[in-house]
Order: sequence, then C-alpha cells, then structure tokens
Amino acid sequence: MDLPYLEDVSPGTGSLPPRAWYARSDAVSLSLNGSWRFRLSPTAFAADDSFAADGYDAGAWDTVAVPGHWVLEGHGAPVYTNMVYPFPVDPPRVPTENPTGDHLRTFDLPDDWPATGGGTLRFDGVESCARVWLNGTELGEFKGSRLPHEFAVGHLLKPSGNVLAVRVHQWSSGSYLEDQDQWWLPGIFRDVTLLHRPEGCALDFFTHASYDHRAGTGTLRVDSDVEGQVSVPELGIEVATGESVTVPVEPWTAETPRLYDGILATAGERVPLRIGFRTVAVEDGVIKVNGRRILFRGVNRHEFHPERGRALDLATMRTDVLLMKQNNINAVRTSHYPPHPAFLDFCDELGLWVIDECDLETHGFTEQEWRDNPVDDDRWTPALLDRAARMVERDKNHPSVIIWSLGNECGTGRGLEAMARWIRERDTGRLIHYEGDQSCAYTDMYSRMYADHAEVERIGRREDTDGPERRRQLPFILCEYGHAMGNGPGGLSEYQRLFEAHERNQGGFIWEWIDHGFEHPEFGYAYGGDFGEELHDGNFVCDGLLFPDRCGSPGLDAYKRVIQPVRFGYDKAAGTVRVTNLHDFADLSHLSFGWMYISDDDAVNEVGELAVPPELGPGESVELKLPDPPPASRATETFLHLTAMVGVETNWTKLDHVVARDEFALTPRPAVRVATGERPVREGDFITLGPGTFDARTGELRTLSGISLASAPRLDIWRAPTDNDNGASWQGGRRNGLLWRELGLHRMQHRLDAVELTDDALTVRTRVAPASRNIGLRAVYRWTSDAAQLRLTVSVMPEGEWTVPLPRLGIRLGLPAAYGFAHWFGGGPGEAYPDTAAASDTGRHLMPVDRMQTPYVRPQENGARAGVRWAELRAGFSGEGVRVVGDPAFWFTARRWTTEQLDAATHRTDLTPGETLWVHLDHGQQGIGSQSCGPGVLPQYELHAAPAEFSLTFSRREATPEDEPTLPPLPPFAG
Ligand code: GAL
Repeated sequence: MDLPYLEDVSPGTGSLPPRAWYARSDAVSLSLNGSWRFRLSPTAFAADDSFAADGYDAGAWDTVAVPGHWVLEGHGAPVYTNMVYPFPVDPPRVPTENPTGDHLRTFDLPDDWPATGGGTLRFDGVESCARVWLNGTELGEFKGSRLPHEFAVGHLLKPSGNVLAVRVHQWSSGSYLEDQDQWWLPGIFRDVTLLHRPEGCALDFFTHASYDHRAGTGTLRVDSDVEGQVSVPELGIEVATGESVTVPVEPWTAETPRLYDGILATAGERVPLRIGFRTVAVEDGVIKVNGRRILFRGVNRHEFHPERGRALDLATMRTDVLLMKQNNINAVRTSHYPPHPAFLDFCDELGLWVIDECDLETHGFTEQEWRDNPVDDDRWTPALLDRAARMVERDKNHPSVIIWSLGNECGTGRGLEAMARWIRERDTGRLIHYEGDQSCAYTDMYSRMYADHAEVERIGRREDTDGPERRRQLPFILCEYGHAMGNGPGGLSEYQRLFEAHERNQGGFIWEWIDHGFEHPEFGYAYGGDFGEELHDGNFVCDGLLFPDRCGSPGLDAYKRVIQPVRFGYDKAAGTVRVTNLHDFADLSHLSFGWMYISDDDAVNEVGELAVPPELGPGESVELKLPDPPPASRATETFLHLTAMVGVETNWTKLDHVVARDEFALTPRPAVRVATGERPVREGDFITLGPGTFDARTGELRTLSGISLASAPRLDIWRAPTDNDNGASWQGGRRNGLLWRELGLHRMQHRLDAVELTDDALTVRTRVAPASRNIGLRAVYRWTSDAAQLRLTVSVMPEGEWTVPLPRLGIRLGLPAAYGFAHWFGGGPGEAYPDTAAASDTGRHLMPVDRMQTPYVRPQENGARAGVRWAELRAGFSGEGVRVVGDPAFWFTARRWTTEQLDAATHRTDLTPGETLWVHLDHGQQGIGSQSCGPGVLPQYELHAAPAEFSLTFSRREATPEDEPTLPPLPPFAG
C-alpha cells in the first residue's frame, strides 16, 4: 500500500543537499520568526491544503510564536515518555489521531533585497514532519526534527505579499527515529530564515584546520563547492580554496579556545570563518587532542527552557555554556540530537569539547526485543544516512566538535554501520561514538552508561574480557553516569579517582544538565503525567544538575568540586601546601591563589596569597611553604582553606570566581564539655533538670529555659525517600526506598519502657519499631545538666535482623516557628550527604531556614548540612534561640514541614510552612548513590543498623546585638 509522505520511511523530498551552517555572511537574509497564523487539526488530513493557496484568508485563525511548540501555546499539551512510544508500535505507521498544525505567514522582501540572485528558505528545526508551500507552490516535505532543511525559492519570491504555508504533523515515520527521553513537543521550534543567494555565492565548504603539536604549526585548507579565496589576516594567510597552508599558530583546545577570524570569499559572497586549529586522534589506546590525553568532565545537555521547551533563545544557549564553564565542566554531549547551531558557536568561542549526537533513538523497540528496529532494516537506511549527513554537513566547521555520535539507544544494526562508514569517509578528522555498539565494531571508543565503579576500574585496567580484543585497545568514556535525578548523584569523587588513575578512562558525562520541568500554575513545575498523559514516566524527566529555572542544584556544586582542575595537598608536619595543575593544556596563569586559617570563634582568621608559579604546566605540582598556623593551644578548632580564583579577565566569568577549593583540619576538635552535676527533681507531673522541664510520665522534654517545645526530641530514622533511594523501576537489585516503606520505617512506633531518675541523670528507655515486624531499635535517652545546659546522650541498640540500611539515625524535635534563622559551625553553605559532600566547606554559616531547603521538583529528603559542631536556631539573625552542640558533630536539617509531609508531597506547591520548625540532628545518614538510573550507594556510605551512641547539648542562646548581613533573595520555592 502506498503510504502518505508522513508515514513513508524516506527522509523527504524537494529540499537542497545539506551544507555547512553559518550565522551571517554579507548576503542579505530575512528572519521569518515571529507571530504566525495557526490552525490545529486533530488528524493529518482533516483540513485540506487550500490554506497554502494565494489569497487564503486566515484572519479567523489563532496565532502562535515561531520558533515555538503549539502544545505550549494553548493547543493540546506536552507528553512525556522515557523510552516507550506514546503510540502503537507498527512502523512506519502512525495513529490517525495526529495533531497537525497549519502555519501561515506573509512577508515582504526588505528594500535592500537584491533584484538578482536566488533565495533559500531554511528551517533549523521542525518536529516532526513538515510540508511546505511558498506562494501556492509546494516545495516539498521533510522529517528529521532537529536538523536543518533548506529549499530553493528564488524563483517564487515576490517583492511583497509572499505567503509561506507550513503543515506540521506531530507524528510521522520520523517519530520512530526520535524516541529520546524527553517531552514530545511538536512545532516549528527553531528559526525560519530566508537567505538571499547572490550569483557566485558560497555553497558548502569544509574548513580543515589541524595542529601539529611537535612543530607548533597549524595547517589550513578550506574545501569549497564554489571556488574562492581564504584569508586569515592575523596569520597572514591568503590562499585559494582547496589549497593547504601551514603556519605557526596557537592551537584551539577547550581550555584555550583560540579562534582565528577568517573569510571565505567567493565571487558573490563573503562568509566569516572562525578557525580553531586542533588535531583529534586515538593514539596508544587513548583519545588525544594536539598530542595530549584529554579528560572529559562532561554533561549531557538536552535543549530545555521551562516555558519555551526546545525553542531556545541565544541568551539561554550562552548561559548554558557560561554555567558549564563556571562549574569546571569542559565537555558536553548534545544528547540526543544536534543542538541549535548557535550553541556550537558558543562552544567554539568559550571552549567546550563537544560530542555532537545525531537525531536518532529507537529505544522503544527494546520492548519487543528490538524486532523491526529501523536501524537494522535497509528500508530505513536512507533516512539514517540523511540524518548523519545533515548533522555532519551542518556542524563540520566547528573546532569544538571533536566526536560524532551516531545517536542514542537504538540497539545495533546495519543502518548504524552505514552511518559510521559514511561519516568516516566524509570527515577523517574526528572520532565516532555510539554507546550501543558494545563490541566497538564501527566506533572509535568504548562507551558505556551507568557502569558501576568496580566495572569502570576493570575497564580502566583493560580487563574487560567480556568483549572483543579490539575493544580493549580503545579508549573508554562513560557517555552517561551520575544520574542527577532529585537529591544526588552520589559517588562522583570515586569515579573521578578512577578517571585519574587509569589512562584509558577518559572521563564521563553526567546525566543530565537540566530538569525538564515546565512552569505550571498549580504544580510549580510540571513533569510527566501532569498534563493528563495516558502513558508517562513521571518525574524521570527531572534529572538535571540545574533546576528548570537554571539555578544550580547541590549536585552541580558537588560536581564542580569533584572535577576542579587544581588539586591541593597539605603536609602538616612540613607546613607546606602542594598544588597540582590538573588541566590538560592550560598553565595556571589565569588563576590566583589564596590561603586562609579559620576557626570557630573568629579568634583566628588569617589570610594570604599563595605564590603559585603561573607557568606551572598541566600535570605539574609545586610545594609551597605557608606561614606558621596559629598556635595549636587555642581552645578552638582551626582549618586551612585553600582557594584558586580567576585572576585575569576572561569571557566566561568574573574576576575572583572560585575555581577550586579545599580544606585541611589543623587541630582536632577540642573535647566538648560534658554538662553534668545537676540532679533531676520530680514535682507533680513534671521533672526539672537544669534548664529543662520534662513530662514525668513520658520523660519527654517540654521546655528548655522557658521555650516550649512543639515536639520533644525523639529518635528518628525516616527520611523522605529520594529518587535515588527509590531506584528505577527496571532495576532488579535492592531498592532501599521501597524496602524501607515495605518494612514500615515510615511509621515507627515508640514504646516507653521506663523513666528513671538518678542523682545526676534522667534516663528514658524506649523501643522503636514498625508494626508487624520483629525488628526494632532500643533507644535510651540519658539527660544530664550543669544547670545552664542540658545534655542528651542517645544510645541505640538494634534488635532482630536488619537487612536494609537505615535511612537516617538521629533525633528530631519541634521548635516554635519563630526560630527560623540558623547559624552553625560545620559544613556548608549547601546541602551534603555522605557521598555528595564534596562542596561542603567547614566554617560558620548562617541563613534563614527557608533557604536551607533544596527545591527538588519532586519534593524529597534534602537540606542536610554535614559535620555540624554546633547549630543555633534563632528568632531572627541576632535574636534569642536554642543552641545545640554535637558530640560528635552531626547532620543538621531544619524545615517548616515534617518528613511525612515532605514524603507525601509530589510537587513543590504541596509544601506549605506550618507552625512548627522541625529540626533533625542526625548521627548518621545513608548515602545517596545514583540508583535512579545507575549504581546504588557504595558500601562505605551505607548506614547500617549497629549499636551507636551520640550526644547533643542544648542551651538557650540570648539575643546579641549584631549587624544583620544582607543576604541574597530567597530561591523561588514554596515556603
Ligand atoms: C539513558 C538514556 C537517557 C536517559 C537516561 C535516564 O539510558 O540514554 O536518554 O533516559 O538513561 O535518565
């Protein structure tokens, strides 16, 4: 049966051959972005195509923005699925219900539009299939959503009253090739441009610019379909196209993105060139650029904006690159399609290594064991080759692009091999990546996603004997790891060590850059299911290092620290600091260095500059002597903080931007004075002990120095499971979040066994256990006092067979809501858990409790501060309040809702502050891991049920007249 064009497997008809993309030449162009007339039909052929004819009156139609997605402009709704197709799998057929958007606009040619020459109409991205008419003449139709498509239109143009009509179908055969884990968002979502094509204009051209690191020279050759001259004034280059020239140059790298401006001049057009000289190769089983091994400190980036979906503006694209640079990220995989081409211009200019990935994923076929998979079916191969060519031809002149990726999660097959073959022939200067080719039959590197640490170590040693010998000779990357869904990912430092220890392990790309949550009046941010989708994958679409508004999550702070390009060491005995340059190319001349001795009581606070030699090369270290630390005799803990900051003007951040930082303890923490000596006294229903009053029947603390507690301190082991606690549905292994709930750890019952008074202590014996189980925890609370302070020692003894780690182990108490301003000495300023604590700096921190919340799109456990020695909750910045000193240091969490409310919430807007300030003082926290799509918590970060004892000393803190610092505004979230 003859299928209509949208279901036909062919890539399309009528368009021009693909070619290099450039933003601007001296030829005139006209942007056709803006407001277009729009009509939505429920099926592909519900409306006839008379709207394309001259003179059609679309006055009654609605309007939409181009670029845009109609589902974000009040016509239908977005749909989110991860890997399943939201329609029956019967390739290449698509449902009859196929939202179809007719788009119409008229335009006049600008006055400076030359009378001679031709015209090209360019679409940079339309999802998923479009049919185009100009002035009533059909130009053709195309598929390949995130790829450019051009049509020759010169012969059809009129000075005024041109009518451009575009029919866009949400579903097409192309949809089978675009099953990426993201929202399905139909529309003309990238620019539409009319380009004047002068006589003798440039067509396609390929800038070859290699670098010989031995000679320090670059070789340039620009191959052009249309002959012309190439000039690079700065290098004195003036050659014909097709001719090679070799001159001394500074190479391009992601760390030193040296670009040279050039011009390609054909008879009719001058096209700007931005040339970066670099050579990419696999040598000795390692990816090298300009002769040196590189290490990817990468992220996977989808295009996303919380209001505009994948219709990104230039400012947002630039912001993404700047944020990456500012967070020490040096590489981006354009998962899972070529980005807007301007994004690559920013990567060239600011410096990022790019894996440019083709717009190809057929993941949903895994549901049928890959049967009928288009990448292994010759009928589809032209469509695959078309996609490969459109990517390579468009992006081949970007120095930042060093690797082509064939696509994502398509299994494997002949079509992919054909793509690789074609690309290799077309471009010998880059490498080929595809994670699905596990035997590396047609790729240049071994690539995996979410492999655990042990396996990455084996691979690093080239001991991956489960694959062919050829593979073991190839470099290794993790094209996805560290699943940044919700709280986490944990375990990144351990990966980084494996990347540094084994030459073969050339780093990885965190999954992923940004949460795809849509701004929503009811939910705050919406995720899968919030638009009433039949099939959806919930909040799996929110798994980024950035929240949807591009504010960084704690995961980004931790990653920045884990991958920092400078390492510090400290030799206490010698009083020397060791600074190692971990860049791959750059010396340290762009950085300035500082040291600081800090202490808890402000008594010690010395700072100075560290004279690190600016010429210290990549991989080199230097030892530097520090001034003597403050005398160790002081009764306070002191630390050495070391910092590397940007010290010269850059185009990606401000002066003094912190690039790297570390700390070292100089003195151990002085012993905490044990508050004891007072005698508990029973009077009627109450027991008094120092500043505390207790309920005589229950032994529960009621007041502390006159402050009424909203809830007495008691043992707490529950946390609102994180996405990483819950794990992914397809993971067979242990999924703690589920096991915890199954055991009933979210509804522990507290049994009182005894309230005992002795000369110097009030002891309360309890057993804490879930209904229906025989496991439990004996918890003994021992209270003592020195009159001014009240000390609580909690002893915990597990009973029965605990087969799961504990979520947390500590106490929680409720304070009056007024005590909403926190000060503490310990880790901060941000959140940290045992395996996510890289960015936690010991020092004095202060902030309103509201600011201590991390606004995960799906609410979950968050906000702990690590290694807290003492914390105060005050009524205002300098007001009175409660002080608690930990022995040992504790995990500090405070919030205006309970863990149960946090656990029940599905969106930020479900959380509203209550009358109680809930304070968690934890002795232990279970690690976070990355099990929402990867390995779980490493054994060393598990919190096992084991005998434990910890103390907390409470006292009242009086108000002090201190000047309130100005704090930046609160992050946007409920509360
Ligand atoms: C990978 C996939 C990504 C994303 C991720 C989980 O398998 O390539 O697109 O789905 O898992 O978030």
